[in-house]
Amino acid sequence: MMEIHREKLCLLGVGGFIGSHLLKRLLDSDRYEICGLDVASSKISKYIDHPRFTFKRINVDNTDAVRKIVEWSDTVVSLVAICNPAEYNQIPLDVIDINFVRPLELVEMCVELDKRLIHFSTSEIYGKTIQGMAGDGLKDPEAEEHYILKEDESPLIMGPISAQRWSYAAAKQLLERVIYAHGHAGNLDYTIIRPLNFVGARMDYIPGVDGDGVPRVLACFMEALLFDKPLQLVDGGAARRCFTAIDDAIDAIEKVIERPDASRNQIFHFGNPDNECTIEELAYLMIDLYKELRPHIEHKEYEVVSVPSENFYGEGYEDCDRRVPDISKAKSLLDWYPETNLRDSMRVAVQSFIEYYGDKDQRSLNGVDPTREAVNGSLV
Ligand code: NAD
Ligand code: UGA
Repeated sequence: MMEIHREKLCLLGVGGFIGSHLLKRLLDSDRYEICGLDVASSKISKYIDHPRFTFKRINVDNTDAVRKIVEWSDTVVSLVAICNPAEYNQIPLDVIDINFVRPLELVEMCVELDKRLIHFSTSEIYGKTIQGMAGDGLKDPEAEEHYILKEDESPLIMGPISAQRWSYAAAKQLLERVIYAHGHAGNLDYTIIRPLNFVGARMDYIPGVDGDGVPRVLACFMEALLFDKPLQLVDGGAARRCFTAIDDAIDAIEKVIERPDASRNQIFHFGNPDNECTIEELAYLMIDLYKELRPHIEHKEYEVVSVPSENFYGEGYEDCDRRVPDISKAKSLLDWYPETNLRDSMRVAVQSFIEYYGDKDQRSLNGVDPTREAVNGSLV
């Protein structure tokens, strides 16, 4: 019998939002044997016994265990992070440890063991825009060169050290610089991915139901809609984001894995520049979709309120005002372009939360639903 040669992939952070979607997609193909590492597994429980998948419940601070997995693999995909903004100014040392110190060890292992590395960075490394910094000081604030971000050209602009919001972005930026330097010296075959606000099923958690703290904006607004709370706009919701459907994003990531030559030593934006909106617009879009998707329940007037960032996130928070990606490199090298518009991207995301978190009449934020792990654990 002919032996099938499968590429050995290790996914560090396989149990998270992106990791769970990527795992599902990669297991649909017969080409890969996958070893996944995470401290959490509820989002991938359906795949734990899959014959081409091995799950290791390991913390990345266990260097010896991580090394064994890296030794086994052909390609390393690095997703582990603390990536909820509420934590950047609250637990900055943990944020720097998980987003810089641990992945630095991983980069060094990949160099030493000659492994291909696909590393997840962030569009947050751009920080604020020149336009945002200059206020009214720019002659033509709408000129594209002030806000369209280019992977290999745009400056990275962050606030002062006391604004600890930037702990995540600074950690991710320094790691990119290390990876780039190794690549430049000819020591490392890498691809850096800068995602822009992916949205979809299994993103984060609902506070008090299956997690604690402040999740990213999708889950914050879904909590408000499902549990009759006001949707809170931080500092009025004027910040802008480009929301990207997770399925479009996974198409792009799969292309990176499949095309090592085209993606070697490149940095890519994966985001949808056509899906830009303010957070205030997002709130009203989600209210509209929620009503559309739940026609059979009685809808009250959903409340939208503005809250100062200091009250919402605490001291040390600053925001990225705007980030619109140039994605021409992904188009030319990977033949990738996101296809899902903003409304459709958000519809899929809102629908998935309604399905996961069920009927607010039957579930309560006061107690964890006993069926919750089973619901969250199954992949849709
Ligand atoms: P996520 O929080 O859903 O996933 C991160 C995973 O890392 C979680 O499953 C968590 O359990 C795991 N993890 C955390 N600490 C760990 C530790 N010490 N040991 C082992 N596992 C640990 O995040 P995500 O949205 O899937 O993001 C994945 C990557 O992409 C991150 O590097 C993030 O910075 C980057 N990113 C994501 C987005 C986005 O839109 N989702 C945007 C920009 C960047
Ligand atoms: C996120 C996170 O830093 C990372 O997951 C990721 O690296 C990065 O996006 C990225 O895509 O590169 P951010 O977009 O600020 O950063 O995260 P959200 O928490 O989703 O916030 C988006 C905007 O909504 C911010 O302006 C925030 O202040 C606002 N917000 C959030 C509200 O107005 N209300 C809320 O209830 C929650």
